[in-house]
Amino acid sequence: MAFKSRLRILGLALLAAVISLLGWRLAALAQTADPAQIELGARLFAENCAVCHGADGQGRVGATLAKDWPAIRPDLRVSSTIANGIPGSFMPAWSIDKGGPLTNAEIEALTVYILSWGNNGPAFVAPAPTAAPRPAMTPLPNVEGDPNQGAILFDQNCAVCHGADGLGRVGANLSRTWSAIRPDLTIKATISNGVAGSFMPAWSQANGGPLSEAQINDLTAFVLTLPAVDTGAQPVATPAPANPFFSGWGGVLVLIVAFVLVIALALGLQSRSRAS
Ligand code: HEC
Ligand code: HEC
Repeated sequence: MAFKSRLRILGLALLAAVISLLGWRLAALAQTADPAQIELGARLFAENCAVCHGADGQGRVGATLAKDWPAIRPDLRVSSTIANGIPGSFMPAWSIDKGGPLTNAEIEALTVYILSWGNNGPAFVAPAPTAAPRPAMTPLPNVEGDPNQGAILFDQNCAVCHGADGLGRVGANLSRTWSAIRPDLTIKATISNGVAGSFMPAWSQANGGPLSEAQINDLTAFVLTLPAVDTGAQPVATPAPANPFFSGWGGVLVLIVAFVLVIALALGLQSRSRAS
């Protein structure tokens, strides 16, 4: 009898603990859903994150973000990931403290926006930023590729890190003089293969990236037409060395496949325990 009632008290205490934990988590979420923040978060997401995570957060070269967050304080988990990046992947660090471009208030707005999605993705998607029109560029002699096509590709894929004018942001300054004898070959190789141990991904299809050789030629031509500007110190954050297995586009694929396998396993176990 005494044992039974002690068990009951223990059960009630556990229940109370679970309920207050849930309440805490819900309060953390509800407290933060402010429309102005959501709007700012949506705009910042379209400008900085959609290139890798997809406009609707479903993942492109970055992870899918439209999901439930398995953490007691998902807000802290998401905001610290945005602020610090993920070393060894090409998720950059965005906070000013870590050499990135975003303030703490902006990171908080992004966090609130992402956590407002749940599994269904955003209810509100801001339009992609429209790049300022550029004057027409004349293709360089002896360089394959069309800089005008390259400019469009640059705005879509590279400006997020290298800045709209290529002056550097979380990526290096590209608006500079190139010392190689054949700078076109150097630049093309860098774009195709990425820079190991940095946030610069490999873009060529041969390396599992999304861009064709013709598109990389266009980008190379565009980078070479950027004027040489001395920006002084470069705002490049140096990440921890990449794990060779989990780096680059192949690593992202491995992670996505692993993620899907885990989910499938969990669903399988659930339906088995229901059946029995
Ligand atoms: C250059 C591509 C790229 C950009 C730009 C980028 N991310 Fe990421 N992000 C990634 C990759 C890749 C991962 C997964 C890394 C890993 O887990 O190995 C990731 C992971 C994350 C995660 C963690 C996901 C999880 O399941 O824990 C969050 C949160 C996140 N990104 C938010 C953002 C936000 C917000 C922005 C814009 C400010 C942004 N990312 C911009 C590539 C990018
Ligand atoms: C996630 C951020 C990110 C994105 C997106 C990105 N880059 Fe980079 N890129 C970097 C970083 C960081 C470096 C510097 C790497 C190093 O040397 O440590 C770099 C370096 C480079 C370099 C070599 C610069 C030098 O001084 O040698 C070129 C060229 C380049 N990027 C072109 C591109 C092009 C073209 C695209 C779009 C297809 C692109 N990058 C997209 C982050 C990025």
